[in-house]
Amino acid sequence: MATDEEEVLAVGGVTDVVRLGATVRRPVRPFTATVQAYLRHLRERGFDAAPEALGVDDQGREVLSFVPGDVPVDPLPDDVTTDAVLLDLARLVRRLHDAAEGWAPPPGAVFGSIPGTPDPPLEPLFEAPELVSHQDYCPGNVVFRDGRPVAFIDFDLARPTTRVADLVNLLHWWAPLRDPVDRAPALADVDVVPRVLAAVEAYGLTAAQRAQVVPVAVRRARNVVHAMRAAADVDPVFRRWWETGTAEEVVRTRDWLAAEAPRLAEALA
Ligand SMILES: Nc1ncnc2c1ncn2[C@@H]1O[C@H](COP(=O)(O)OP(=O)(O)OP(=O)(O)O)[C@@H](O)[C@H]1O
Ligand SMILES: [Mg+2]
Repeated sequence: MATDEEEVLAVGGVTDVVRLGATVRRPVRPFTATVQAYLRHLRERGFDAAPEALGVDDQGREVLSFVPGDVPVDPLPDDVTTDAVLLDLARLVRRLHDAAEGWAPPPGAVFGSIPGTPDPPLEPLFEAPELVSHQDYCPGNVVFRDGRPVAFIDFDLARPTTRVADLVNLLHWWAPLRDPVDRAPALADVDVVPRVLAAVEAYGLTAAQRAQVVPVAVRRARNVVHAMRAAADVDPVFRRWWETGTAEEVVRTRDWLAAEAPRLAEALA
């Protein structure tokens, strides 16, 4: 591709993204400077599985390095539903957390959130944050090469969180902690409990952290119902999603998780 031509990567979602040569350009938002400072910190700490922050271009767009590879969309294709991919992802999140720890957000830091998010959330997921992390490991935010995950992109929802709360987001999408009807075909009939256990072990959670996984996941799933409804009330993109399946899906996720929670908690104990 000629380096002076822009290729549209995403339009009609939350963010309009174009590729220009080895870079992507995205609109500057209130949290962009904070996210770029965070990405620079990750690089300095040796974490290379994220785009490089390259500032702002002459059209006032944020500039990030383009990460070559394939980005899956939901439902997950079969080759990224394997246990090996899930364990790779858990280890990648562990590396991200270890690199993030100790980063103090700059004065005036602004963190993104989905539109209309009640702040503080209806049910807090933790007492005190431990680090800043990604918090949005949906399939469209993971780059694969040769069938293995190599980077996380789209740090727009990065914010102070805990290791467990952030890992629970990964488990939601990739174990997945979802009703069978909302899973990729290859995972519809799979018992996710052993997958959660394996992912938690690959990450290396402590016993105390393992005990928090299920309560945090249950609270998160309840919060998501309210958060997505609130976002649909104020934002047309979220309203479209809400009206085309999200309304039912978030309730199924909440109810499936509530039903599976005892068995999952027992396995993690
Ligand atoms: N740095 C990058 N390297 C490679 N691909 C990228 C990069 N940034 C964005 N993309 C591509 O553009 C898509 C959308 O970008 P991004 O995830 O940043 O925005 P978004 O707000 O999630 O948009 P959408 O709601 O449409 O998913 C990604 O799924 C990916 O395919
Ligand atoms: Mg995205």
